[in-house]
Amino acid sequence: MTDIQAILWQPVCSRQTLQASQFVEFSLATVAQGEDTLPQTGFIFLDGSTPRAYLNRCPHRGVELNWMPGRFMDTDNLFLQCSTHGALFKPGDGECIAGPCQGDTLTALDIRETEEFLEVRLPE
Ligand code: FES
Repeated sequence: MTDIQAILWQPVCSRQTLQASQFVEFSLATVAQGEDTLPQTGFIFLDGSTPRAYLNRCPHRGVELNWMPGRFMDTDNLFLQCSTHGALFKPGDGECIAGPCQGDTLTALDIRETEEFLEVRLPE
């Protein structure tokens, strides 16, 4: 593995401690992309038994989805929901199925599992 590849993967949490219905929020390490790069946050959760991770940024206005720490799901616990205007996103692929950004998608982050951690790949 090159140094660049190591930088692109960021440990987030242990797979063994990630529980069903739990959302772990994290800040993404900054990779030099120019002066306009804003700090980014993401979240990881289990979709069934599959870990999924997305940038915490609504495609409608670019704001974070959740208004409370760890709260990303709608009241029926079926879809990810943006707290600003209520857009609903499928947990499996981040597609918006209702709301002002219908048809857009959340930015998915690649995940890999090492012996100790679930790691996400930093967006390029
Ligand atoms: S900012 Fe998310 S739906 Fe408008």
